[in-house]
Amino acid sequence: MKNVLVINGPNLNMLGVREPGIYGDSSLDAICKKIEKKAEEYDIKCEFYQSNVEGEIVSAIQGAFGEADGIILNAGAYTHYSIAIRDAISAVKIPVIETHLSNVFQREDFRHVSMIGPVCAGSVSGLGENSYLVALEALKLLFNK
Ligand code: DQA
Repeated sequence: MKNVLVINGPNLNMLGVREPGIYGDSSLDAICKKIEKKAEEYDIKCEFYQSNVEGEIVSAIQGAFGEADGIILNAGAYTHYSIAIRDAISAVKIPVIETHLSNVFQREDFRHVSMIGPVCAGSVSGLGENSYLVALEALKLLFNK
């Protein structure tokens, strides 16, 4: 069985309350339950982690070394400027799918830049909570390659 770590960064604990017109009405907990259900169908074991703190996200990525076979990462705003998170992804060499609920390319210019994109296996953006399910499917396809 493959192990996937789902990491959510800053302000994603506020999902359901935070700008629902952009991020939807579902709580992070509800989204995690949907990911878990899909993962069971795929015979994948998921673990979930959320932090608002950059260094804690770096530590979570480092902690996945030798443990997780893939990472789904919504780094929130850190996506756009965190070299530390980018370096952590490069260090562990675990396939990471960069994931965003909103379509970052339809939004402000500063969201068009991703520090982490170049070191991720792939990116999903703009599909609402389904972005996470597509990211999981992408990892499943990578595992079966
Ligand atoms: C986000 C997009 C980011 O630009 C933003 O800072 C977030 C959420 C998304 O899921 O659409 O916090 O990653």
